[in-house]
Formats: sequence, structure tokens, C-alpha cells
Amino acid sequence: MKARNVMSKDYVGKTVWLRGWVHRKRNLGSKIFIVLRDSSGIIQCLVSKDRVDEETWSEAEKITRESSFIVKGVIREDRRAPGGYELLVEKLRIVGLSDVFPIRGGEGVDYLLDNRHLWIRSTKLTSVMKIKHSVLKAAREYLESNGWWEVTPPILTSSAVEGGATLFEVKYFDRKAYLSQSAQLYLEALIFSLEKVWSLTPSFRAEKSRTRRHLAEYWHLELEAAWYNMHDMMKVAEELVAYIIERVLRERKLELETLKRDTKILEESIHTPYPRITYDKAIEILKNKGMKIEWGDDLGADEERTLTMEFNKPFFVTHFPKQIKAFYMKLDPTRPDVVLGFDMLAPEGYGEIIGGSEREDDYEKLLKRIIEFGLNPDDYKWYLDLRKYGTVPHSGFGLGVERLVMWIAGLDHIRDATPFPRFRERIYP
Ligand code: 4AD
Ligand code: MG
Repeated sequence: MKARNVMSKDYVGKTVWLRGWVHRKRNLGSKIFIVLRDSSGIIQCLVSKDRVDEETWSEAEKITRESSFIVKGVIREDRRAPGGYELLVEKLRIVGLSDVFPIRGGEGVDYLLDNRHLWIRSTKLTSVMKIKHSVLKAAREYLESNGWWEVTPPILTSSAVEGGATLFEVKYFDRKAYLSQSAQLYLEALIFSLEKVWSLTPSFRAEKSRTRRHLAEYWHLELEAAWYNMHDMMKVAEELVAYIIERVLRERKLELETLKRDTKILEESIHTPYPRITYDKAIEILKNKGMKIEWGDDLGADEERTLTMEFNKPFFVTHFPKQIKAFYMKLDPTRPDVVLGFDMLAPEGYGEIIGGSEREDDYEKLLKRIIEFGLNPDDYKWYLDLRKYGTVPHSGFGLGVERLVMWIAGLDHIRDATPFPRFRERIYP
């Protein structure tokens, strides 16, 4: 039995066994209130001295916060109990008595990160992890029912995808290798047989600065499809995000409530299409708002935040200047100073959650771009080969899972969208 399941009219008067951990304890002399927590939620257990045997009473007196225990009792309705039900205890046995728990409430961020392995039990992080579970489940469901093949690209790679600045180098036997920044190049190789592929992998970015939305290791959901142009791909991106949000709103109502998430904008976001603006338009909006930015500058977190105030659902920014985007993006044939690339930005100040583009599919043009970017064509020989043997127009994108979870859960920092966050300064535990 789980706490959540027994909290219903059907169980009133029934005897149940539960096991879990002490979430809270209050000793009132002849009565001890113990709030039991299990993976489903919490339930208040009442131990009355006059209703239990001596052993149970002494266990209840002895038990400390975060101890694990097994309890038997009868369910009854009680308006004052959290959730409206409580367990009237008959028997209680401690399984693992807890030392004084180092987290009592009110501790600072760094202390909680030092104790992440314990803080992970908190209601907040538990709610976020359940939301992340539903996000991943929904994504998989959407992709499965729309004919996308799941594939498993490597994490140890031979070359950069997203530029050398954020590349993690590792010692690989007697050579150098890199931790993957993106599975994209491998996914591109796979579309020649499977056409529509996706993968979920860790991606690594050696970000120089600590921000509220950058992790050194994050989960990357990437799609790549033959025959798709940029607009086809943007349609997939918005359908996928809308589907995920719809499922999370349905499945994770309780968790969103626990996190005090105002879901108004999430509810808007289940409706597609999402607005689209060009980079040119974005610059115009930002200039009109008095921001110091010129055509050709990248959009930073501040610029993105300002843009998000214009929309009440996710939106796309498209056609960026070629110099601020990756080498593989196809140039707009009608205007070769911009790429056929798109970012999806989440509203409410969150900013970029997806980056994607149509890919350069012409051998000579791609080679030229690789050289322009100062990359070594030898490192990309296999990638260039894809343009030699049956090249095909194609597009793809990558979604930062923690970025999406951060927005959906309404978190103010990306660290809480992942159980064990990795930053430049810290890799603990
Ligand atoms: O925009 P990015 O760098 O694009 C790519 O890597 C493409 N190769 C993906 C593709 O087309 N297959 O990264 C994609 C997404 C971003 O939009 C963001 O959501 C997330 O990955 N992301 C990060 N999330 C957390 N921490 C970081 N340091 C991130 N860097 C990127
Ligand atoms: Mg990007």
C-alpha cells in the first residue's frame, strides 16, 4: 500500500500496512503525530499511548525525523490532517533509525548543494523529478506515435558540434576525445536509412560562466529528419512541446500545485501554432524597448527575457545572422547573411529551450563553411561524406530537457531541474 492510495473514502475503517520515512514528528505527551512519506506522498499517523502496545509506544517516542519505519493502522477521515485522512496507529516498527537530519529548513543554497544526496528527498525536488518523468514519458509517446525511430548515438566523440569554446576534452587511451555537445552529427548519418530519428542523451558544455540556465551536463532530446525543411521541423517542435505540456498538466496537477505553479500560461501553450518572429524583428522590438543591441549581436539571457514579455506562450525566433550560429546551418538562399535556423523561447522570462535548423546539404558549401569557421575539414571528413553519397535536404533540433522542466515547473534556477547538477565550480556528489 502507498500513502496516497489509502487516502480515500474506500479505505476508511480499513486496516492497512504502510512503509516510509518520517517526514515530520510532533510529540504531544500522550499522542505522537508522525507524518509518513513514501514515493506517493504523505499521510499523518497518530500514535495514541492508550491505543498501542508498549513496544510501539517506545518506538514512536524514539523515532526521529527521516527514520524509515513500518506501520499498521486504521484509516479515518480527519479534516485537520493534511489531505483529509489519517492513520490511527496500532503497530509501529523502526527499520532504520536516523541520526539528526542535517537539513532542518532555512538553509542556504550552497549548504543544500553540499547535502544534495539528502535534500533530494525534499517535497520540492520530488515534485520536480515527477514532472521531469512525465515530460520524458510524454516526449517518448509523441515520438513513438508519429513514426520517429529512437537511436543511441555515442557520448565520446571525435569532434565539436557547437564550437570549441564549450568543448570538454577527455583523455581517451593515448589520444584526445571529447564529451558530446550534441548528437546531431551522428543523427544526420542515421537519417539516410531511418529518415526520422531521435535520441535522448547527456550533452556536455564547458560553460565559462555560472548562470541560472546553464549546466555542464544536461539531458538533450534531439530530432533529425530527412526531407524536412525548417518549417516542417518547427511544426514538429511546437507539436512536441504542446503535447508534453498537455500531458504534464493532466498527470502532474498535484505536483504543479505543490510547487505553487500558476498554470495559466502553460494552459495557453497547449495550443499551436506558436508565434514566429525573425531575428530582424526581434532586434527591432529590443531597440524599441531601449535595449542596446545591434544587428549581428547574439541574443543573451537579458534580451531573451525582454522578448518573452511580448508573448503568452512559447515562440520562435528565426533567420539569425550566420556568424552567431553553427557551421552546419544552411544559409537562406534568398538572403545569404542569415541561416535557416530557429530557436524556441519559453515565455515568462525563461528564453531558449530549443535550437534547430535546416542543415547545409551541399558538399562544397558545407566545406566552405567548415573552413570559414576555422575548423579542420579532416575532422569532418565522415560528416562531409554524407553530402557525397545521396545527400538529402534535412533538418533537426535539440531540446534542453532541464530548460523545459525549469519552465514548466516554474523554477528560478536550472539546478533544481536535475537531481545532481554539474557546474563549473562543483561536481558533488
Ligand atoms: O542550441 P544548442 O546548442 O543546439 C545544438 O546543440 C544543436 N546541435 C541541436 C540540434 O539541432 N540537434 O542546444 C540545444 C538546446 C538549447 O536550446 C538548450 O535548451 C539546451 O540544448 N542547452 C542547455 N541546457 C542546459 N545547459 C546548457 N549548458 C545548455 N546548452 C544548451
Ligand atoms: Mg542554441
